Amino acid sequence: MIRSICCIGAGYVGGPTMAVIADRCPGIQVTVVDLNAERIAAWNAPDLSQLPIYEPGLDALVGRARGRNLHFTTAVEAAIAGADMVFLSVNTPTKTKGVGAGQASDLRWIEASARQVAASAQGHTIVVEKSTLPVRTAETVQTILNAVPLSSVPGAEGKTFSVLSNPEFLAEGTAIADLQAPDRVLIGGEDPAAIEALAAIYGQWVPAERILRTNLWSSELSKLTANAFLAQRISSINAIAALCEATGADVGEVAKAIGADSRIGAKFLKAGPGFGGSCFQKDILNLVYLCGHYGLHEVAAYWQQVVALNRWQQQRIARLVVNRLFGTVSGKRIGVLGFAFKADTNDTRESPAIRICRDLLEEGAVLQIVDPKVSERQLAQDLGQPAGAGEGSWQQVAEVQQAASGADALVLLTEWQAFAEIDWAAVAAVMRRPAWLFDARAKADAAAARAAGLQVWRVGEGADD
Ligand code: NAD
Ligand code: UGA
Repeated sequence: MIRSICCIGAGYVGGPTMAVIADRCPGIQVTVVDLNAERIAAWNAPDLSQLPIYEPGLDALVGRARGRNLHFTTAVEAAIAGADMVFLSVNTPTKTKGVGAGQASDLRWIEASARQVAASAQGHTIVVEKSTLPVRTAETVQTILNAVPLSSVPGAEGKTFSVLSNPEFLAEGTAIADLQAPDRVLIGGEDPAAIEALAAIYGQWVPAERILRTNLWSSELSKLTANAFLAQRISSINAIAALCEATGADVGEVAKAIGADSRIGAKFLKAGPGFGGSCFQKDILNLVYLCGHYGLHEVAAYWQQVVALNRWQQQRIARLVVNRLFGTVSGKRIGVLGFAFKADTNDTRESPAIRICRDLLEEGAVLQIVDPKVSERQLAQDLGQPAGAGEGSWQQVAEVQQAASGADALVLLTEWQAFAEIDWAAVAAVMRRPAWLFDARAKADAAAARAAGLQVWRVGEGADD
């Protein structure tokens, strides 16, 4: 029976996942470790609004379990040594240089954490891959774990490992709900006892029929495949959105019509500015790399096109804004509504807003950016320049009304609920005419904006001008 868990990586996955396990399994001590001392300090912040990650419901869970059976620390070795089970939940971004640069996953953090486990574990330890990994990574992890020279480490005698794959399917913004009621939990492995030990933990709150057991490689590949299929649906609907705009069809109506077919299903058919987030692009590129590695070049090209379409969608939105504003945005104020890659998160990784804002800055626009959760520091990092004034500059503002002040256009990029409730008469009153709303999420009340005198472009809707 598992009494003590260590999770390496206190990020968007490690933090929320361990908070839910600690909450549901009061008999298990859960310790989350990270090399990033600032992040750990934030997880330990007395004020729960200062946690490093914003997820609805996370603060309440951490408030209940922290200090009882949920701990955050930088003492990696001690936490590994005391654990029966270690989760590897470290980052696996796309490689930026060397073999496979731009496609393959950079496994240096997985390798480093596996080496730490090899060095510090005591007795029998179940090592769980929680990070998203290329298929057959478990082989590498196993090799590293088994390479510990028994004589060199005190206490190494009797040190044994079982490796499991247990990919995470949570989506940001709904992480806690996803973890508390997952569609499925996937456990891949070869050691039945280890598989059942992990299944017993999830079994505390997940119905038995939702806990799927597979071999290691199916589990690793299922995670990449799930993300590839989800991203493919978004590129598919965005491709159709462009055709709707050209033909006078409405992508919302098309999505509803096709989604009513139970074989297609209604979810993940929302056209937008292109998918963002830390994983879709990196996981598809990883799949593309793996296909190339195994000589499956047609398969690689097929998946590559999902990413290509997504980049095109982001670029075309910035171009379209410039074109509608008489071909130039130089010195013009543009309000940007939303910067996070989706609503209900403070995460901006790969957010379409980054590319779109950078393109507009390059054209000389003066951006007034409002997002309820993204910090000014994050904006500066993503936009590659500090807040400023004049042509090609940006400023963060607190309210939609300020974003609209003196602006020729508002560009809605994140579907925060507040943007569905804008008082368009008040907003239109402070904008310069002719004024535009570019709604890349089809979130705003377009009829109200039009009634207030704005010209409206809405993703996937035939133009009204
Ligand atoms: P993240 O960057 O938010 O967190 C990873 C953390 O690991 C960082 O804080 C980093 O400092 C820490 N770390 C790296 N090496 C370490 C080491 N050797 N020792 C201690 N700490 C170390 O990443 P994330 O978003 O939580 O993603 C983690 C993994 O989960 C990735 O493989 C990702 O693809 C996958 N995933 C992410 C999501 C998501 O919604 N973000 C969902 C499902 C799966
Ligand atoms: C996604 C998957 O949904 C999770 O199952 C997976 O665990 C996770 O990636 C991961 O591996 O990291 P996430 O990226 O957090 O989760 O968020 P999604 O809800 O999938 O949204 C991704 C992007 O697609 C966002 O930019 C979102 O705005 C966009 N999107 C989503 C659309 O444009 N249209 C849709 O219909 C749905």
